[in-house]
Amino acid sequence: MASPLRLFRSAPRIANLTCYQRRHVSAFGYTQAKALVYSAYGEPSTVLKLHSHSLRPAYDEEILIKFLASPINPADINQIEGVYPAKPELTIALGTPEKSAVGGNEGVVEVVSVGANVKGYKPGDRAIMKHTSFGTWRTHALAKDENLLRIPDEFKDISPLSAATISVNPCTAYRMLKDFADLEEGDWFIQNGANSGVGRAAIQLGKIWGLKSVNVIRERPDVDALKKELMDLGADIVVTDAELQSRGFYWEMQEKTQGKGIKLGLNCVGGKATHYLIKCLGEGGHVVTYGAMSKQPLNLNASSLIFKDIHAHGFWVSRWSDRNPEAKAEMVAEIFRFIQQGKFKEVPFEKTIWNSDSTEEQLVGAVAKSGQAFGNKKQVFVFEE
Ligand SMILES: NC(=O)c1ccc[n+]([C@@H]2O[C@H](COP(=O)([O-])OP(=O)(O)OC[C@H]3O[C@@H](n4cnc5c(N)ncnc54)[C@H](OP(=O)(O)O)[C@@H]3O)[C@@H](O)[C@H]2O)c1
Repeated sequence: MASPLRLFRSAPRIANLTCYQRRHVSAFGYTQAKALVYSAYGEPSTVLKLHSHSLRPAYDEEILIKFLASPINPADINQIEGVYPAKPELTIALGTPEKSAVGGNEGVVEVVSVGANVKGYKPGDRAIMKHTSFGTWRTHALAKDENLLRIPDEFKDISPLSAATISVNPCTAYRMLKDFADLEEGDWFIQNGANSGVGRAAIQLGKIWGLKSVNVIRERPDVDALKKELMDLGADIVVTDAELQSRGFYWEMQEKTQGKGIKLGLNCVGGKATHYLIKCLGEGGHVVTYGAMSKQPLNLNASSLIFKDIHAHGFWVSRWSDRNPEAKAEMVAEIFRFIQQGKFKEVPFEKTIWNSDSTEEQLVGAVAKSGQAFGNKKQVFVFEE
């Protein structure tokens, strides 16, 4: 009779399931899994499907992981729409009728079991994704060391929500504050989209490093509540777009910076908002564009570049992380320490519990909700048995 291991080896890698059972591991050691997949680019609520499949036990260098939490970020939506530069390969690896990819790029996982040749991981360890495009909106996956950044044991107390949302937004804010302008304690930076995940991280990191921030948000009915929220997080000034554009504001900032203007602007929005951000910068100032939430081309006038010597940059954390894996691990550890010290809070979030009863409608609904204006909360899948 064939040994159980031989049976696993000769069995097809993924078997389709007709129904999802509460028990995750079958008598043969197969794990029953679910994933939100897409086979064509388009509007997420139209193209995302909930797919059930089974995974064989981890073999050789494989690591069987289960997801604990995965956020829904704007880039995930752009990726499904087909307008994001990082595109996961569409494959039939999960046994889908058509070639497909799993949605989501960020998340935290727990190791369930490891293959015989895995070094450095044991069941119960936690990890975040090392690169973009792994596909994190799923209950389980077979991964390899190259896909994961193991969370050191000293950070085991970090909540899954904090860990799941650390590698994109806080790391982006960290690099933009450190790498573009030579900021010293007491210097100012300005940012639009200040209530975004990146914006909130920049406020907090800026505060830790002794920087002062001007934070631009969109007008809304509850604007004072949001202003207070950002001030409580460590913002020095919070203004609406209209307040930023008033003549008095420019002179106020000139006075606060002793006539030098602000050294760094972080641009989440694009379009006209960029113009008003740059207006506040001093000579030789830097503007770093990392988002394009308005979907409008940058409004960057020639006189800013010629007469004010403004330096315009772009930043993409995925590229930076791929080029600097060790520095990325150090940066993540530093932010984890800030969390442990109570200096850094995760973004406000709205949980969607993903368990065996969750329906496609509920899960896809959470994705649709993530793009809503003035949502002010990150949508996050939290996985439960
Ligand atoms: N380049 C990189 O490496 C990198 C890394 C991380 C994120 N990003 C990008 O950064 C941006 C923010 O990401 P996130 O995860 O921090 O976002 P988030 O937490 O989901 O927040 C979205 C932000 O965008 C604002 N917004 C939405 N639609 C807008 C519009 N039409 N005009 C102006 N503002 C608008 C929202 O303001 P309201 O509350 O007023 O709606 C909110 O401040 C996205 O474009 C994302 O792709 C880039």
